[in-house]
Amino acid sequence: MLSVFHRLSERLQLALDLSFPEAAAAAREAGRPLDPQLVAASKPEFGDFQANGALALAKPLRRSPRDVAAAIQAQLLLDGPFLELCLEPEIAGPGFLNLRLRPEALAAEVAARLADPQRLGVPSVGPETAPVIVDFSSPNIAKEMHVGHLRSTIIGDALARVLEFRGHQVLRLNHVGDWGTQFGMLITHLKQVAPQALTTADAVDLGDLVAFYRQAKARFDADETFQTTAREEVVRLQSGDPVSRRAWQLLCEQSRREFQAIYDRLDIRLAERGESFYNPYLEAVVADLDAAGLLVLDEGAQCVFLEGVSGKEGKPLPVIVQKSDGGFNYATTDLAAIRYRFAAPPAGDGAHRVIYVTDAGQASHFAGVFQVARRAGWIPEEARLEHVPFGLVQGEDGKKLKTRSGDTVRLKDLLDEAVERCEADLRRRLAEEGRAESEEFIHHVATTVGLAAVKYADLSSNRTTNYQFSFDRMLALQGNTAPYLLYAVVRIAGIARKGGDGAETNIQGRQPLAASTAESFSLHFSEPQEWALVRQLLDFDAVIAAVEDELLPNRLCTYLFELSQVFNRFYDQVPVLKAPPAGRQSRLALCRLTADTLKLGLGLLGISTLERM
Ligand code: ARG
Repeated sequence: MLSVFHRLSERLQLALDLSFPEAAAAAREAGRPLDPQLVAASKPEFGDFQANGALALAKPLRRSPRDVAAAIQAQLLLDGPFLELCLEPEIAGPGFLNLRLRPEALAAEVAARLADPQRLGVPSVGPETAPVIVDFSSPNIAKEMHVGHLRSTIIGDALARVLEFRGHQVLRLNHVGDWGTQFGMLITHLKQVAPQALTTADAVDLGDLVAFYRQAKARFDADETFQTTAREEVVRLQSGDPVSRRAWQLLCEQSRREFQAIYDRLDIRLAERGESFYNPYLEAVVADLDAAGLLVLDEGAQCVFLEGVSGKEGKPLPVIVQKSDGGFNYATTDLAAIRYRFAAPPAGDGAHRVIYVTDAGQASHFAGVFQVARRAGWIPEEARLEHVPFGLVQGEDGKKLKTRSGDTVRLKDLLDEAVERCEADLRRRLAEEGRAESEEFIHHVATTVGLAAVKYADLSSNRTTNYQFSFDRMLALQGNTAPYLLYAVVRIAGIARKGGDGAETNIQGRQPLAASTAESFSLHFSEPQEWALVRQLLDFDAVIAAVEDELLPNRLCTYLFELSQVFNRFYDQVPVLKAPPAGRQSRLALCRLTADTLKLGLGLLGISTLERM
């Protein structure tokens, strides 16, 4: 109800100005107008909103808080536009003003949303030209794309979808690890054990490539001669040696295809812009930092020492920008990326917000890199630069997620298993219910529910905590799970089929309740469960605004889960199809708005819904 909130804010502001003209003028002069402190009511008993400003104003005005509240209340009672929205405000406790919206105002909001099924009252910021960058997924070539990357992929996609929905131009960047020492090791090792992999596309399996990488890493750690050769190989690659380049390209292409298969399956779009993209800008990073007087030569390496961050012996910690051998590292690439992303086009992306979605283990890396970038002056004043960390994915034993045989879990197997389990559950249920469905139906439902469950489990836990991966929990029909939410949508679709609302009934020749006609009859609500559902539905825009700001997809999940619960309570306790005509129409309208809200909300989480399951 953000628009109502803003309208009420204005009315309260005006009431303050009129009640305390001198104080209000002085406060405005000082650039800090009196604040009515309007917030959503902390409990339903308090109404819809409460204004807490009287408490803070009491002291400077030298009046009791209840006195101040009474003065504001008196003004509001004279204000026509306010009274169109709200019932008489009540003073509560030490001086809170409780505001309750008029039933007609709530019904009008519901009608407005019904007439706007695409946006459901969420305004769009567009047209925005400065993009928001979401840097997510970002696996490493020739290494395993693991569950941590899956989490980043799922969370990053949901955030990107919410930002896009809000009208931002979003660059979804896959900062693939396609550069660095790993290629030196891998190419050196492959030259000896599988040279064909360096000259012929797909000569070895990606799985094998990962195994080769592991062997190479082991040799690198144990064998000094190998180390030297690998380092020389990196130099060759970086200096553009055609043979090394070709080998590198082959390795990248192969990994890329494997990653793409996962993205396709999850219906996630990403633009690859790997670390190698920033190679041409690395020197400039060092030069810029030098010009800004930030570089310190420490044990042969070019460093920037961090302010306010110290290591073990109380010494400030450095961000190493250039190693003693002249090489650059992960942090240098990230510095170059930040510099490029905020730089005005055509020399950069001209972003106004850059978001990184990685595991919490990289928090200090980003804190360091962000600080250096700020001190270098690369971040425009109003711009936002944010790390969105998430916890580790653990097995049900609380340890790192592993297969029964102790191997790392392959993402493909993980998704397959979710879908297979759904299919088995579905077949069992169909048999129990004596229902016959086509193989196509079974396949479609199992795939939709399985992938939804994996995504939703990831998104619904507070992302900052570690998260225990459990098929049983994510596939449960009860609780805060994808199947529970998908069922709510299916349930409403069923009501609509029986009730003459929605497209499917149209096929049967009954009158659909089209969006455009929603306003042509007036909505009437009487039962407390109806009002509870109305209020929950009208919260949608505020939740989207919160997710956009705080980048916590679990807030949207919690909201949708609560919406389903409130809906189920409503539907269990209030007759819909058997209600008398006037009430029936209003209740069916609530059903439809619930379905629209769930579908849109789940869609923003990257989850598609079903009509039947
Ligand atoms: N490739 C890194 C990893 O696998 C993640 C990169 C995240 N993005 C970034 N700009 N550093 O851990």
